[in-house]
Amino acid sequence: MSTQRFKRFYLDWRSLAEKTLATEVENPGGRKRYDGIALTGMGGSGIIGDVIHVLAFEFSDVPTVVVKDFSLPKYVKDGWLVLAISYSGNTKETLSTVYEALSRGCDVAGVSSGGKLAEIAREKGLTYLQVEGGRVPRASMPALLVGALRVLKAKGMDFPLPSPEGLAKLGNVGEAEALAENIVEGLAGRIPVFLSDVRHYPLAVRAKNEFNENAKIPAKVEVLPEWGHNDIVGWEKWLGPFTAIVLELGEGDKLMRFAADYLREVNVPVKELVMSDSMPYVDRVLWYSLVLGLASLKLAEIRGVDPGVTESISKYKAFLKSWSPALKES
Ligand code: PA5
Repeated sequence: MSTQRFKRFYLDWRSLAEKTLATEVENPGGRKRYDGIALTGMGGSGIIGDVIHVLAFEFSDVPTVVVKDFSLPKYVKDGWLVLAISYSGNTKETLSTVYEALSRGCDVAGVSSGGKLAEIAREKGLTYLQVEGGRVPRASMPALLVGALRVLKAKGMDFPLPSPEGLAKLGNVGEAEALAENIVEGLAGRIPVFLSDVRHYPLAVRAKNEFNENAKIPAKVEVLPEWGHNDIVGWEKWLGPFTAIVLELGEGDKLMRFAADYLREVNVPVKELVMSDSMPYVDRVLWYSLVLGLASLKLAEIRGVDPGVTESISKYKAFLKSWSPALKES
C-alpha cells in the first residue's frame, strides 16, 4: 500500500475516536472495588496499557501493571481486573494472559476489532468493546485508547476520556503534518533516540514503534531521570549516526531541557518537540502520537518503503503458532 493511501488511517483519527465514543460497551458492570488492574497487549495495542498505567498515577487508587508477555505476575489473581487489548483479537501473548486470568478467577475485559478475543468475551459474558475493523493496529490508536477507557469506566473506574477540544485538535491535520515535517527534516539515514520523562514514556515508546514499523528503521528510547544515571555516559566518547528527539512539556521543562543541552554539548544533533502543557494528558498523548506517526510516514516515503506491511511481525507470529509457552486454554 502506498504511503499516501496508508496515511488516510491517520488523517481520520478524530472521527475514529468519535465513533468509538458512541460504540456500545457490552456487558458493563464489575466489582465495587478491584485490588489492581493488569493491562495486557502487545505492540500497537499494548501501548494503550502504558498510557493507562501513567494515567493511573493520577486517577487510580489501585495499582496497575502493564503485561507484554505470555503470562501474568503471580500477584494478579482473584480480585484483579485484567483488561486485554488486541486490535486483531488473535495475538498469542494477549490471549494467553486472558486464559490465565480466567483460570485464576480474575475479572476479564477486552477491546479488539474481533478475532478470538471477541469470541471469548461473548461466550463468557465479559465486558467488551469492539472497535472498527479493516485497519492496522497502530493506526487505530484513538479507537483502542477510547475503547479501553470506556471499558474501564464501565467497570467503575473513572479515567478521563478525550475532551471535545482534544477531539477537534485531531482534525487539524495540516498542523500535525507541519509538525511532522519539522521532526523528519534531516532524519534520513540516522537513528532517532526519543527521550522523555516518565510521564511521557508511552509517547516515546509509541514514537519508536512507529518509526520501526512504518519507516523500517531501528530507534531507541531513553527515559529521564534514569537516563541521567547511565545512558548519559554513553554519549561522552563515541558518536553513532543518532539524532536525539527530546519530548519536552512546555517551554519551562528544565529536566528535558537539560538533556537537550547536554546532548548538544557532546555534538549529538538534537530536535526538541515542545509539547503543549495546557492540554489534558489524554488529548496530548493522542495529538503527539498523530504528529509522530505522520513523521514516521514521511520518513517511510523518503525511504521508499511500504509503511503498511510488516513482514517480520508476520514471520514472528507464524513462529509463535508452533511455539507457545504457558498458553492455557480454559
Ligand atoms: O502495530 C502493529 O501492527 C503491531 O505492533 C501489533 O499491534 C502487534 O503485533 C499486536 O497485534 P494486535 O494489535 O493485533 O494484538
